[in-house]
Amino acid sequence: MGESNGYLDSHGTTGALHLKAAKQPVDLTIAEDASYRSVLHANAVPPQPTSLMPKELRDRVLQWLQKHVPNSRLEHILRVEQMAVELAVCHHVDPAQAAQAGLMHDLAKFFKPQRLLEMAQAEDLALDPVDIANPHLLHAAVGAIVARDEFGIHDEAVLDAIRHHTLGCPGMSGLSCVVFLADSLEPGRGDTPKLIALRRNSQQHLHRAVWLTCDESLRHLLARAQQIHPRMVLTRNWALALTDKKLPLPRAH
Ligand SMILES: [Fe+2]
Ligand SMILES: [Fe+2]
Repeated sequence: MGESNGYLDSHGTTGALHLKAAKQPVDLTIAEDASYRSVLHANAVPPQPTSLMPKELRDRVLQWLQKHVPNSRLEHILRVEQMAVELAVCHHVDPAQAAQAGLMHDLAKFFKPQRLLEMAQAEDLALDPVDIANPHLLHAAVGAIVARDEFGIHDEAVLDAIRHHTLGCPGMSGLSCVVFLADSLEPGRGDTPKLIALRRNSQQHLHRAVWLTCDESLRHLLARAQQIHPRMVLTRNWALALTDKKLPLPRAH
């Protein structure tokens, strides 16, 4: 998964937004991705995100995103929205909630570190020393604040899925699991054998996929001598405990 992982991505971004002078228009209707489709359940026919949200709300979020994130991030967000809907269908989660959380998961991705810290403190969020040292990790929790205050989202399940999309959370809902997985495994992350295997797991074994995705993040952070947020370890242990032990272990790396 390498540097494409969501958690790692969040460490590796400075938070500075450099919009191109002439932005290329983004295709707001996600094209089908054959490599991902090839591993979708044959009987899962996912609805289009556009049919799952009031048009006025989706348009308003997209307009806001076009002003606050670069095109490459907007394209990632749209792929996360689509994959979250597809995983929701696989795991009997409400696809409308998955679409909302997917579309709004990275609202605060390009907020400056100081702004993230100030907004988190104003909300009285409990901050871990790893959050203080890496304020960019707070873009998930702050994204939920933006979704609530800017777009009037008060569905706590949707807000939790936004909050937990980077580090997960022990005990998190199926909705939070699918958004967490969609963020790390969306087709734009690449097509390495590891990612393809994780995508397959994500459709069939929700908690196993969360465990294995956490392991990939942890491996990446260890290899780069980066700090590990304790919540990711707790998420990993929780998901591992819920995993069917009869399934074979993944191949050693
Ligand atoms: Fe994110
Ligand atoms: Fe993301």
